[in-house]
Amino acid sequence: MSDNAEQAEFWNGRMGTAWVNVEDYIDRMMAPLTAVAFDAVNAKPGDRIIDIGCGCGTTSLSLGASGAEVWGVDISTAMIDRAKEKDNAAGNVAFSVADAASQAYSADHSLAFSRFGVMFFADPVKAFANIRSALVPGGRLVFLCWQLPAANPWLSIAGAALQPFQPADAPPPDPEAPGPFRFGVPEDTRKVLGSAGFTNIKLQAVVKDLHLGDTVDEVMRFQSNIGPLSGLLETLDESRHAEATAAVRDAFAAKADSNGINLEASTWLVTATNG
Ligand SMILES: C[S@@+](CC[C@H](N)C(=O)[O-])C[C@H]1O[C@@H](n2cnc3c(N)ncnc32)[C@H](O)[C@@H]1O
Repeated sequence: MSDNAEQAEFWNGRMGTAWVNVEDYIDRMMAPLTAVAFDAVNAKPGDRIIDIGCGCGTTSLSLGASGAEVWGVDISTAMIDRAKEKDNAAGNVAFSVADAASQAYSADHSLAFSRFGVMFFADPVKAFANIRSALVPGGRLVFLCWQLPAANPWLSIAGAALQPFQPADAPPPDPEAPGPFRFGVPEDTRKVLGSAGFTNIKLQAVVKDLHLGDTVDEVMRFQSNIGPLSGLLETLDESRHAEATAAVRDAFAAKADSNGINLEASTWLVTATNG
């Protein structure tokens, strides 16, 4: 069994389909964060970029618009199938279903990029050492990851609203388990990347208000596909589904104003060098 079998199952199951359902919403919502990461990448013709955990491929294709050669790698077949449907007329963007942590790479890439796709490795040091093996000497790593939940009301608000529905004996989350907040603590990220052989490791806080939607209905479409509500509904007794959904809806409705629903998102823009 591969290190990441559990995550492969997760992203090839309900979550892969859910992500495809709301990919346009995600790309629109993430745009202010993506723009900062793309500035750091500064892609240009001649670059050879791997997009790690590329999902449905929007970031790979955007980077490819610079003329760079881009390879989007993702463990989810549904998401890569969706990426392959998109317009790639220039033919400089390729997509593969692969585990980025164990894929055998040739050491001829100038940059490894990721928008929220590197927090799901069972053994992050091993995974990042493998990703580093894809880079030329001096090649760069640039990725966005989430800060801890307290700094991310756009995500934590639903979790807080659902707290009364969680089983009383639910164990506290393991901060080192694969998941969206795996690299929320900078010292740990530095340790992981340093152990994987990266140098010149820098973390820059990137904080933006995200426009979650004009209406609560729009937000709820996302929430019912992805996020704590969607996960909880899988395990919660059906008689409590409506109550849990209403709790999340009310929490977002309380944040709505004439500009819709806008909440703060805090990320780290992580950069590092191979050698
Ligand atoms: C939070 S999503 C981000 C997707 C995309 N980068 C975006 O911004 O829309 C995380 C992605 O990482 C992928 N992923 C998780 N573990 C992976 C692994 N070991 N190798 C490759 N992709 C992986 C998932 O399938 C998923 O597409």
